[in-house]
Amino acid sequence: MSVTVRVPAKVNVQLAVGAARPDGFHDLANVFLAVGLYDEVTVTPADELRVTCEGPDAAQVPLDRTNLAARAALALAERRGIEPAVHIHIAKDIPVAGGMAGGSADGAGALLACDRLWGAGASRAELLAICAELGSDVPFSLVGGAALGTGRGEQLTALEVGGTFHWVFAMADRGLSTPAVFREFDRLAQGRDIPEPVASPDLLEALAKGDPDALAAAVSNDLQPAALSLFPELADPLEAGRGAGALATLVSGSGPTTAFLARDAESAEKVARALRGSGTCRSVRIAAGPVAGATVL
Ligand code: C5P
Repeated sequence: MSVTVRVPAKVNVQLAVGAARPDGFHDLANVFLAVGLYDEVTVTPADELRVTCEGPDAAQVPLDRTNLAARAALALAERRGIEPAVHIHIAKDIPVAGGMAGGSADGAGALLACDRLWGAGASRAELLAICAELGSDVPFSLVGGAALGTGRGEQLTALEVGGTFHWVFAMADRGLSTPAVFREFDRLAQGRDIPEPVASPDLLEALAKGDPDALAAAVSNDLQPAALSLFPELADPLEAGRGAGALATLVSGSGPTTAFLARDAESAEKVARALRGSGTCRSVRIAAGPVAGATVL
């Protein structure tokens, strides 16, 4: 018997970052949108905990107990006092170290899959609590849709979205480490007053209306200058996407994936073609959102 869970990637349409906290994290106003790029996590009973991964970026995925999927299985097994004797297989389509919550998706997927496989019967609240222990973005991977994340991003409030938004994503030829991007944010912020992060009312209204032009005018990412400082070549796909008619261009989360909001599906195709021909990125994908969170198949 095995259980497979499908989990989406995310893009941050707003990422407002506050000053570093004493625990090293940053308070955020993080507006997540789940988009239709998916990892599939399959768990099967086995003699011991084992992780395997397939997909174009599989070689970059750690298969030891640092993998968030393995940590999710361990966390649930420990709470139930059982052995985490499970083979976790990840069919990976979300870019690795790309700022699209691929690792978080695998954590949320493995948790839900193990809960079903073991008949652990964890409540939604318990699943969310385990997700928050695993990482700041993991609760959102479980719930999907659109949500405002506060605290370090793990405290979620679901958001209403009045339509489908069409996105193009350009993958870079190397990854960026999230802690390194936050450290660079701190370095760039030195000597400046950092305001409390708050969600933009215009952005929330644009989401609720499903209005791509209004959303384009309101998107923002406080980590973008830090990502560009560590990875200056990211300016090239951003410029290529803008030139191709994207309504908005931004770094996705801590990067280095760049995200392009298009007016409709046709325009997304056009932006994707231009990016593919621009030689500024490794690969290009189209995905729309919002979509559902982790789902048992
Ligand atoms: O929570 P997660 O493990 O995904 O965070 C990875 C790293 O990103 C943290 O160790 C921290 O350096 C940084 N981070 C942060 N503030 C947040 C979320 C993440 O500084 N709100």
